[in-house]
Amino acid sequence: MTRGMQFSIPISLFSLCLLLLLSLPINHAISEPEECQTYIIHMDHSQKPASFLTHESWHQSIVNSLLSTADDREMLLYSYNHVMHGFSARLTPSQLSAIEKSPAHLATYPESFGKLFTTYSPKFLGLQSESGLWPAASFGEGVIIGIVDTGIWPESESFSGKGMSPIPQRWNGKCENGTEFSPSACNRKLIGAKSFSKGLQAAGIKVSSELDYDSARDVFGHGTHTSSTAAGNHVLGASHFGYAKGTAQGIAPRAHVAMYKVLFVSDTEKSAATDVLAGMDQAIADGVDILSLSLGFRQTPYFKDVIAIASLSAIEKGIFVVCAAGNAGGHNSTINGAPWIATVGAATLDRSFTATMTLENGLTLEGISYFPESIYITNASLYYGKDDVSKAACNASALDQNEVAGKVVLCDNSTKIDVYDQMEEVKRAGAYAGIFLLDISDLRPENFTIPSLILDTASGTFVRKYVTQDSKAKVKGMRFMLTKLGAKPAPQVASFSSRGLDPINPGVLKPDILAPGVDVLAAVTPIRPFIKIGKYKLVTDYALYSGTSMATPHVAGVAALLKAVHKEWSPAAIRSAIMTTAYTIDNTGSILKDESTGLPATPLDFGAGHIDPNRAMDPGLIYDMDIQDYIEFLCGLGYDEKQMKTILQRSQWNCSQEPTDLNYPSFMAIFNNEKVKKFSRVVTNVGEEEAVYHANLKFPTGIKITIEPSTLTFTQKYQKQSFVLSMETDKEAPGMVYGFLNWIDQHNHTVSSPVVVIKTQLNHIPLTK
Ligand SMILES: *[C@@H]1O[C@H](CO)[C@@H](O)[C@H](O)[C@H]1NC(C)=O
Ligand SMILES: *[C@@H]1O[C@H](CO)[C@@H](O)[C@H](O)[C@H]1NC(C)=O
Ligand SMILES: *[C@@H]1O[C@H](CO)[C@@H](O)[C@H](O)[C@H]1NC(C)=O
Ligand SMILES: *[C@@H]1O[C@H](CO)[C@@H](O)[C@H](O)[C@H]1NC(C)=O
Ligand SMILES: *[C@@H]1O[C@H](CO)[C@@H](O)[C@H](O)[C@H]1NC(C)=O
Ligand SMILES: *[C@@H]1O[C@H](CO)[C@@H](O)[C@H](O)[C@H]1NC(C)=O
Ligand SMILES: *[C@@H]1O[C@H](CO)[C@@H](O)[C@H](O)[C@H]1NC(C)=O
Ligand SMILES: *[C@@H]1O[C@H](CO)[C@@H](O)[C@H](O)[C@H]1NC(C)=O
Repeated sequence: MTRGMQFSIPISLFSLCLLLLLSLPINHAISEPEECQTYIIHMDHSQKPASFLTHESWHQSIVNSLLSTADDREMLLYSYNHVMHGFSARLTPSQLSAIEKSPAHLATYPESFGKLFTTYSPKFLGLQSESGLWPAASFGEGVIIGIVDTGIWPESESFSGKGMSPIPQRWNGKCENGTEFSPSACNRKLIGAKSFSKGLQAAGIKVSSELDYDSARDVFGHGTHTSSTAAGNHVLGASHFGYAKGTAQGIAPRAHVAMYKVLFVSDTEKSAATDVLAGMDQAIADGVDILSLSLGFRQTPYFKDVIAIASLSAIEKGIFVVCAAGNAGGHNSTINGAPWIATVGAATLDRSFTATMTLENGLTLEGISYFPESIYITNASLYYGKDDVSKAACNASALDQNEVAGKVVLCDNSTKIDVYDQMEEVKRAGAYAGIFLLDISDLRPENFTIPSLILDTASGTFVRKYVTQDSKAKVKGMRFMLTKLGAKPAPQVASFSSRGLDPINPGVLKPDILAPGVDVLAAVTPIRPFIKIGKYKLVTDYALYSGTSMATPHVAGVAALLKAVHKEWSPAAIRSAIMTTAYTIDNTGSILKDESTGLPATPLDFGAGHIDPNRAMDPGLIYDMDIQDYIEFLCGLGYDEKQMKTILQRSQWNCSQEPTDLNYPSFMAIFNNEKVKKFSRVVTNVGEEEAVYHANLKFPTGIKITIEPSTLTFTQKYQKQSFVLSMETDKEAPGMVYGFLNWIDQHNHTVSSPVVVIKTQLNHIPLTK
């Protein structure tokens, strides 16, 4: 069962040009009506005739040349300049083939649709006003975070301009006027807001309805949540119906926000690839420093993946791109795993939401609850249908209203009935409250539509014994809306967080990093009902959301802080700093656990580990990369020339003769039949001028690893040193082992990289842990 926010994607969507064909003159109508479909067309920029001053005018003329004189429809959706070279348009097959005959044509991809993958977290991350990254970065002052999402609720206090520095001079973006969105809603916090819906509209999806607006205003709540998580201003007394009460603030509370709305609520929530490209194109043109995407498409090769293509352009311009790894939970399920993207998985916080129950015998038990009202139940009879399996388990229609009305009902775990169905039954029968037994709960806050308490089976067994033995069993009191810190173990890998191997490129470890993504409190839209209690629909300004969508803006915020401190760092350097300083030990002193099993997790689940912002400020060494490193990586993938041009947007590039390793801050060794593997890396000193690093390997037996040289001596800042990691395996059974390479210097830097070794054929990886 998946707990993250998930939305279905339609397999294929195209609209007929029927209405338009009907308006054509007679001579056109006699030909067979052709289906129009939206395509993304990649063009070779170097072939633009000099007579066109802009690419857009070139693109427009290509499309115009396909139109008959009487045909005045808008075929060109977007002309792209930054994320790729080309355009998107609605075309018939014959129009498409006319374009494809042009020597300047590189590639065509049909439209596709993507999905979305939810404050205390700054404190959990160790951010403090007096010391560390926050004050060093002036809380992100001057940095611009672009969010590609469902829009924004500009009136939220989280987007107040109070205390914000002026909008940077270099900013080219603006706030677009539209339905229920006035440019005057923007301020020094929210400095840009635009909506991109031509692709969805071309697919026949109504974006302007009672459900959503064709403007940057957020109706769904997701974009407001992610934006306020990354850079929300301080808001006192925020809470989710009284839970998690405190000061809400983003990770970079002084950074500016720009919203690029590409996702709309229609029959389901969706976004079109053409719109996502347009949003990212605009963000690059506007001058964002960080680009955060909590959405994704199906896993496809990079030359077909709009987010991968657009991100490479962004990276080349120095923009840090961070994306959600997905909410699919299982192994081999990461999305957005291109090696130039920072790919984020979700982790739990050490916070829990509880209620307590005191029995007549004086014993008080505590369990999980998110019931959103502060009620206190006193002196209620406790009911347990002990003589009837269906009643005991609160099976649908099993409870007798006369027996349970006004009582607290215990529903046991003797059957496999879904807790949600048990809750419905308790509600139907008119009981006061329900007690449910469950060790690992997948219930979301919005599931608590009646006063209910989830007890672990140990406490549950105790209550069951009490109510079975005492025919006058009573609940003295039940109290809701308690928020507790210090839950153990924490953090854990969230059950829904997508895991490696990366299906597109197993050779790079993904996800890269974990960040808080479970029950994150942030701003939402105050008009969308969060939960229905009886006949009341409850709304809230702040809500608890879960998903890798919520983890991603945490990393965007940390990247903004790092950018404020280290203006010269490349996107790869920022990611390296975040990864090599991550931690893998939880608050019980053990390796991070997997929430879904309670068992130790591995780098396939947590990547380099959990983000640690203060340490990321001073990583000691970085594994840097630039566009040429990614070009070399792409050279090794065996793509043809057109595919390479599609990704790289240039007509010439250099591939070295020797296959080269990406200078990645993690190591993934997949042994097929070979005995030895070698990885070359270059590290750059960003710590003290004089530093001597010693390699320290933490590795299980069975694998022989050597580092050459094992000591790296630096005498100045930005000096580079290279080393080679070689490993040899014996003939043990296939499987996965992992360890860490730590470079440790005399100034207390530990530069840590996970090293994963997989001894098998790729399609035989044992996926159980
Ligand atoms: C802004 O958009 C609204 C809704 O589309 C429209 O009614 C209004 O006239 C627009 N205002 C300006 C100044 O364009
Ligand atoms: C508790 O409820 C019982 C009836 O179920 C009633 O007789 C008793 O007086 C109540 N006790 C208190 C303290 O309200
Ligand atoms: C629950 O009820 C359904 C139908 O009412 C029945 O098919 C099912 O067997 C019951 N389950 C249990 C465990 O009693
Ligand atoms: C929680 O509620 C949602 C929406 O109401 C529902 O789709 C989901 O199945 C529920 N979860 C569980 C575990 O019952
Ligand atoms: C119910 O909980 C008890 C007590 O912990 C446990 O032993 C039992 O396996 C559970 N039953 C089911 C069906 O999960
Ligand atoms: C991983 O996913 C890819 C693509 O979805 C598939 O081809 C491959 O067989 C999967 N590998 C494993 C080990 O499940
Ligand atoms: C390729 O490498 C050669 C030799 O280093 C250099 O002269 C040339 O400019 C490079 N071309 C590109 C497109 O980078
Ligand atoms: C060394 O680093 C660790 C972990 O970052 C930290 O807990 C410790 O206080 C540091 N020690 C010194 C002497 O700075």
